[in-house]
Amino acid sequence: MTRPDVRAAFAALQDHRRDIEKRRTIDLFAADSDRFARFSLRLDDFLFDFSKHRADARTLELLVALARAAKVEERRAALFAGEKVNLTEHRPALHMALRNLDGGPVVVDGEDVMPDVRQVREKVGAFAEAIRSGAIRGARGDALTDIVNIGIGGSDLGPAMAVRALSPFCAPHLRLHFVSNVDGADLGDTLKGLDPARTLFIISSKTFTTQETMANAASARKFIADALGEAAVSDHFAAVSTRLDKVAEFGIRPDRVFGFWDWVGGRYSMWSAIGLSLVIAIGAKGFKDFLRGGQDIDQHFVSAPLEKNIPVMMALLGVWRRNVWNEPAQLVIPYDQRLARFPAYLQQLDMESNGKSVTRGGAPVGMATGPFLFGEPGTNGQHAFFQLLHQGTDIAPIDFLVAAEPTDADPGHHALLVANCLAQSEAMMRGRSRAEVEEILAGQGLSKDEIAALAPHKVFAGERPTSTFMYRRLDPRTLGRLVACYEHKVFVQSVIWDINPFDQWGVELGKELCNRLAPIVQDAARNTSALDGSTAGLIGWRRTLAG
Ligand code: F6P
Repeated sequence: MTRPDVRAAFAALQDHRRDIEKRRTIDLFAADSDRFARFSLRLDDFLFDFSKHRADARTLELLVALARAAKVEERRAALFAGEKVNLTEHRPALHMALRNLDGGPVVVDGEDVMPDVRQVREKVGAFAEAIRSGAIRGARGDALTDIVNIGIGGSDLGPAMAVRALSPFCAPHLRLHFVSNVDGADLGDTLKGLDPARTLFIISSKTFTTQETMANAASARKFIADALGEAAVSDHFAAVSTRLDKVAEFGIRPDRVFGFWDWVGGRYSMWSAIGLSLVIAIGAKGFKDFLRGGQDIDQHFVSAPLEKNIPVMMALLGVWRRNVWNEPAQLVIPYDQRLARFPAYLQQLDMESNGKSVTRGGAPVGMATGPFLFGEPGTNGQHAFFQLLHQGTDIAPIDFLVAAEPTDADPGHHALLVANCLAQSEAMMRGRSRAEVEEILAGQGLSKDEIAALAPHKVFAGERPTSTFMYRRLDPRTLGRLVACYEHKVFVQSVIWDINPFDQWGVELGKELCNRLAPIVQDAARNTSALDGSTAGLIGWRRTLAG
């Protein structure tokens, strides 16, 4: 790593770790009655609390100094100005333009892209409303009640996550389905319950070449053609892509094709026409609220000072734990069953963006970059992997997400849900000392020997850092805010690590090898001698088993 200022900022943080390590977070609360207010940030009801991190005012000062040394503000300006920040693909990354509801022009290559953005948004909204109202019908005149989005990665995860998250806002007479896997079971199981005459397929693919999506699209086409005849296909398909030429080859009517642009990365595309299934589910107005949530965070991200900036602080706390405390994982635990797919969505956003080992200039990055990210809704995770989080040998920081009030769910249950969330973050911070355990066991009447044997197993070290998002309720605007916070967090971290978060060359090798292997797997007569021993052996064994 050449950036001497960044190196010096990291060295200062390493020194500071040795100081702060001597203090307990719970004692930091005792020493500062305003700690919650000073270590949390708010955008009206949307609150980000990071007071349960082992950090003090000096920590924040040093982290902000790191951000300045890495030139976060300059790079943020370049991002929003439409510079070609995606260096390896020579493109800007301007997903913010898609949620620019109140702002001015956004210029790419000397041209304002906003008129096109608005035009596609209106076309998407009008189509979605016509499906919702039944104005657009299937080939035999039936209302379209089952909408199947076929896509993968960024062309699936965002809308699939959001449709589930916003189920109370979804039209009750429509059913949304998401098919992504090339495993025929995914499409097959989905189609089993569907009436072709009432089904609309949306083929979502930025490139319109992705193997999985194209295979599923071809099978879906056959499903319609077999049941309703070839002529019915155009009434039962729509498409979203940047490759309008390829969509036309597939035979989808131009008025049912919704475009977007190469300056929208796949994992940043749910704000674009890729969100069509979500627009059908929650309506054009609901989708606009979702966009507004994203815009709220864009405006906050570009204007709030670094130390008061939610995505910046999320990023800096992540870097503090990843690079200074050397923790390889990050958890996201929504206390909201409807956010069950949010961790999967974030896995692509974070790990495809920041899973890199070379700098923007191509040199080894020289420090740890993006963490492994995983998560599950609470309370389920508590009864599965939380044991390791509480007492395992590795520490992983956690983001908790929780609404103050439920949306269309039992308030009594919700109080329990919130209590669980708060109990977990308190337990992670506080832990339980040997002395406390011994006192409890003695109170239960255990003998000295029994206490000595049991106590070590019941000690919790604590000091597991957690942050908590709390907001009034999970509605489209709040969801937009959450997604945009994580997007900008990922960007800020990429700046600190000096990596390009907008490309994903790492997924290419597997695709290339699959294209080479597919004909050999499909045709038992093909020779496997040029393959490595394991691959050849596995293909041979499959031929034995499956014929
Ligand atoms: O393989 C990774 C990837 O390129 C993702 O970045 C993308 O979201 C996904 O595949 C799907 O790509 P497409 O929308 O072009 O089908």
